[in-house]
Amino acid sequence: MTGKAAKMHSSNAATIALREEVLNYARERMAMDPAPLDGPQSLSYLKKHAANTINEKGLGGHKALKIFEDVLAPACISTDHPGYLSFIPVAPTEAATLFDLVVSATSVYGGSWLEGSGAVFAENEVLAWLAKEVGLPKSAGGTFVQGGSLGNLSALVTARHEAIAKRKGKKLPKRWSIIASSESHSSLKAAARVMDIDIVLAKANHEGRLTGQAVLDAAEKIKDGLFAVVATSGTTNFGIVDRLDEIAKAAKQLGVWYHVDGAYGLAGILDPRQKKLFKGVEKADSFIVDPHKWLFTSFDSCALVYRNPKLAAAAHTQHGEYLDTLTDSGEFNPSDYAYHLTRRARGLPLWFSLATYGVGAYRIAVAENIDLAHKIADVIRSRKDLKLVREPELSIVVFERVGWKLADYEKWSQRILREELGFVTPSSHEGKPNARFAIVNPRTELKLLTKIIDSMSEK
Ligand SMILES: Cc1ncc(COP(=O)(O)O)c(C=O)c1O
Repeated sequence: MTGKAAKMHSSNAATIALREEVLNYARERMAMDPAPLDGPQSLSYLKKHAANTINEKGLGGHKALKIFEDVLAPACISTDHPGYLSFIPVAPTEAATLFDLVVSATSVYGGSWLEGSGAVFAENEVLAWLAKEVGLPKSAGGTFVQGGSLGNLSALVTARHEAIAKRKGKKLPKRWSIIASSESHSSLKAAARVMDIDIVLAKANHEGRLTGQAVLDAAEKIKDGLFAVVATSGTTNFGIVDRLDEIAKAAKQLGVWYHVDGAYGLAGILDPRQKKLFKGVEKADSFIVDPHKWLFTSFDSCALVYRNPKLAAAAHTQHGEYLDTLTDSGEFNPSDYAYHLTRRARGLPLWFSLATYGVGAYRIAVAENIDLAHKIADVIRSRKDLKLVREPELSIVVFERVGWKLADYEKWSQRILREELGFVTPSSHEGKPNARFAIVNPRTELKLLTKIIDSMSEK
C-alpha cells in the first residue's frame, strides 16, 4: 500500500503490535469471572479524564486503548455480570462473544446473497431452527435486525402493507390501528408513532395476561382500519405470556395479522416444560425473539421471522439503480425483510454458539434460569418483610420491600451498585415501587440473589 492513509490499513509493525494489544485486552476481559460490575461516572469526570481524544494527529492506538481501559470501560456497567439484574441483561456465551469478534474481523456483509451467501446461509439455518421450535412451516423465514423495537416495527410495516394489498380497489380507512396488551412493550407505541397509526391497548387480566376476549372487546371500539393484533410472549415487566391460542383465534376471526413479540420471553419455549405456555405461537404470521436477551448472544440482535417471508419482501425491498443487480437476481437478500439495508451479519454469533454447544445446552440454560427465578421467589415468599408482586412465570421476579418508598429503593439500588453486589434498579407496578430481578445469566446463582435480598435489611 502507498500513501499516508495506508498506515491505517497495512500490517506494519505498529499495527501488528496494536492488534496484539487489543486482542490481549479482549482476551483478558473475557477471562474475567466475573468482570467488575463498574458504574456510571459524571460528565465532569469523563471530561476531565477522557476529553480531547479526537484531534487531527490521533493519539495512537496504545494511548487510546489505555483511556478506554482505565476510564471509559469502568464507566460502563458490565451487563454480563451475574449481579446485573435490571432491565433485560445480556449473558453471551464464550463462543458467541468470540464469534462477534470474528464477524468484525472478517468484515462480512450480511445484506445480500451475492456478497454474503455463506453468512446468510448460516443465519438462515438459525432462523429455520427458531421457526421449527415455534412451530412455523418450513417456508417461514426472515432476517436478524438490530433489536426488538426494529423487529416489531418491521413486522407491523409488513402487516399493514399486506392489509393495503388485500383491500386493492376498495376505499382505504382514514386511520390504521393495532391492538396490543396494556402490558406490552413500549416499542409498540413507538412503532405506532413512527407509522402514524393508532394503538389500542386492550386490558390485560389480573395475571397480567392478554386474553382473546379482551382483544375482541377492544376491536369492537375500532370502526375500521384494524390490521394487526400483537401478543406478548413474556412481558418485560413480569415475564408473563399472553393467551396466545385465544389471541390467534381472535385475530383470525377479525381477519387481521397476528404478531408475537417474544423479544425477551419466547426463548422460554426451549424449556420443554414450558411448551404448553406458548401454545398458539405456531399460528403467528410473524414473531420476534432477541438473541441478545435470553439466547446468550452479544448485542445487538433480534430474530424476525415471518410465516410468509414474501409478504415482508414486498413491503421492505428497496429499489435503486445500483441495487437492481441484487433485487433482480431472485436470490435471498436479508436486507429485503425489514426496515434496513446495510447490515452486519448479526445472526452469526448465535449460529456459532448453537453450532458449538448444541441446542441441548441452550435448553438446560433456559430451564435453569426459570428454576432459579422460582427458587428466589420461594425465598421472598418466606420473608415477612418482602412481598411477591406476582408469581413468576418465566425468569422475572418482582417483589416489594414492605413499607419502602421509591427513595428507599433508589438509595438501596445505588448502594449495592457501589458495593459491586448487584445492579437492580427500582421498577413499579400500578404506581407502587418495587424491585425486579430479570434472570438470563447462567452464572447468576441463588446465593447471590439471596445476598442481594438480605442487603435490603442492611443500612
Ligand atoms: C417484550 C419486548 N419487546 C420489545 C423490546 C425491545 O427490544 P430492543 O430493546 O432490543 O429494541 C423489549 C426490550 O426489552 C421487550 O422486552
